[in-house]
Amino acid sequence: MKGIILAGGSGSRLYPITQSISKHLIPIYDKPMIYYPLSVLMLAGIREILIISTPEHINLYKILLGDGSRVGLKIFYKIQTEPRGLPDAFIVGEEFIAGEKVALILGDNVFFGQGFTPVLNEASSLKEGALIFGYYVNNPEEFGIVEFDKSWQVISLEEKPNNPKSNYAIPGLYFCDEDVVEITMGLEPSQRGELEITDLLNDYLKREKLRVQLLGRGFAWLDTGTYDGLLEASNFVGTIQKRQGLYIACIEEIAYNKGYITRQDVQKIADAISNTDYGKYLKMISQKEETHK
Ligand code: DAU
Repeated sequence: MKGIILAGGSGSRLYPITQSISKHLIPIYDKPMIYYPLSVLMLAGIREILIISTPEHINLYKILLGDGSRVGLKIFYKIQTEPRGLPDAFIVGEEFIAGEKVALILGDNVFFGQGFTPVLNEASSLKEGALIFGYYVNNPEEFGIVEFDKSWQVISLEEKPNNPKSNYAIPGLYFCDEDVVEITMGLEPSQRGELEITDLLNDYLKREKLRVQLLGRGFAWLDTGTYDGLLEASNFVGTIQKRQGLYIACIEEIAYNKGYITRQDVQKIADAISNTDYGKYLKMISQKEETHK
């Protein structure tokens, strides 16, 4: 399975922060935001990843992540000239996807919770259709929403409804089969002039090929779309990291645990940044026989 991180858009809700930098490079505590969705794809075992961003910002991601080989990945880049909607990622990425299954994650989505890795492993072994997640929130009107019947069958999917039929938001992580490009090609832009992810998912629903997995109460799916959301996400990551001494979304650590890079590779990266906490953490990781998974 391949992976796409959508890191374009105008970021207008975070003005003036996003006047000169890309939203997905803003730090969440001690790392650029994009490290968090990138680590999710890595935990899902996905190693070929396309980053989509704007003409102005794409080079910043190249500087940050290069060809990905430092963390055992193959990272590719593509420009989205206009924010034409989330499913547009499958059109921009058509050549990269090359008829395979694909996971799309939004560059501003931060996930954290025990047991997430097995969930991701199962998701990335998707056989057919699409798999999405449902997460109970108190502000459903701000998200794509999924409505269930009494036996938890999906009834409907709606994008930011004024009167939400449920509190279950659809986080920005979508696992899709090989049909996704063709289905996207058949979508029409909505009234706001964008292709809507809920229209794509509704198509899978009509074909009875949509699965929704709920992420429970102990799970954190954090909002980074507002100033307060950014601060709260940073505080959340900082709190957990300081309490446990274990990092969230440390891409070198994940690459090492997965066997993509060697102990020597980690040491080399750590030595180059030994005056930082991040460098000290990597050094500690590289000295451990077995790291905590
Ligand atoms: O975060 C989850 C939510 O993300 C879902 O529940 C919604 O169904 C989904 O539409 C989306 O809602 P947002 O209001 O967060 O979408 P937004 O337009 O802000 O775009 C999400 C990210 O994708 C953002 O970081 C910018 C990027 N983006 C967006 C569009 C429309 C692009 O790179 N290109 C685009 O064309």
